[in-house]
Amino acid sequence: MAIFELRINKDPILRRKAVEVRNFDFSLSSLTENMFETMYDSKGIGLAAPQIGISQRLIVIDIEEIDADFPPLALVNPTITESSGEELGEEGCLSLPDFRAIVRRSTEISINAQNIDGQAVHFSAQGLMARVLQHEIDHLDGILITDRLRPEDQELLEKVD
Ligand code: CO
Repeated sequence: MAIFELRINKDPILRRKAVEVRNFDFSLSSLTENMFETMYDSKGIGLAAPQIGISQRLIVIDIEEIDADFPPLALVNPTITESSGEELGEEGCLSLPDFRAIVRRSTEISINAQNIDGQAVHFSAQGLMARVLQHEIDHLDGILITDRLRPEDQELLEKVD
């Protein structure tokens, strides 16, 4: 296993739209393991492949320490098919060191994705899990929490270089 270097701040790969994963092979499972390692090493609860310099639609999430109902999760080509409600919550991002912001997210979402074996998965999530999923899926479209600041928080952008 390996720990990757995190891409941070203005790294252009964070702004690219990641491509769909088509090959469900050994390299995908080893990439996924390395993403978990990298995320745990940085004490994160979610990580998207572009954050380690790989512009593919793959995310890993582990919120088990906060909510034991959820085992670690790796999702390939995830999309949000339904969303409802709105809530504000504080978020950080491994690609934006020392930056935190209040972000508005849907309260409940439905997800279509594949697992790393290529099988289709569908599920709904709410609360923290829904928030982390929305954050990580944003990464696959080149969107960062700095793009989702409330108008009154725009001055926080000065902290990002
Ligand atoms: Co992030």
